[in-house]
Amino acid sequence: MVNLGDEFPNFNADTTAGKIVLHNWIGDSWCIFFSHPNAFTPVCTTELGRVAQLIPEFSKRNCKVIGYSCDAVDDQIKWIEDIKAYSKVDSDDFPFPIIADASRSMAVQLGMLDPAEKNKDGLPVTCRAVYIIDTDKKLRLSILYPATTGRNFSEILRVLDSLQLTDQKKVATPVDWKAGDNCMVLPTLSDEEARALFPDGWKTVDVPSSLEYIRITPQPK
Ligand code: BEZ
Repeated sequence: MVNLGDEFPNFNADTTAGKIVLHNWIGDSWCIFFSHPNAFTPVCTTELGRVAQLIPEFSKRNCKVIGYSCDAVDDQIKWIEDIKAYSKVDSDDFPFPIIADASRSMAVQLGMLDPAEKNKDGLPVTCRAVYIIDTDKKLRLSILYPATTGRNFSEILRVLDSLQLTDQKKVATPVDWKAGDNCMVLPTLSDEEARALFPDGWKTVDVPSSLEYIRITPQPK
């Protein structure tokens, strides 16, 4: 189990692009590490195809992406051809590597298992986990989806935008926020501190409590 703010575990891994040491591979980038249940399964094919299409967006944000499952690397390499055909991503080199952990050790260590779905050997498959790791290798987001529900990777990009913005500026991002939208002044800042930081000011929303804690400000540049 890794908590938010902990260093994400480092490990040696076999991938579709050769052997790696995770932390070395991440280097100075952010990283999306995401798991899926199995090669040659339908929902997984749609998800990995979508991630392949979104790689330019992740790259713009200095973020590398790596997949993970407990399949053999040869199966994953064969499956990549199906993903490319399905998603119409037409590149000789698939745009991100997939870790092949036939030992299942990382899945067990990180708790990435879905007991509701079993593989052909009767073992729980890997669930659909997403971890966002920052440039200091710290875990910044962790979500687990069940094997039967495909994820929305536009949401993962949105969270990455929020994390990168809130690392730079003392704001938080409200419900359904997307890059460019208004933000919230952090509740931990006094009005005096906020005045120094937000020259465009903020608007306070009136609420029955009369407490002035909902302070809306344009996204800082
Ligand atoms: C799928 O990718 O379609 C899938 C994989 C494992 C369990 C359920 C669905």
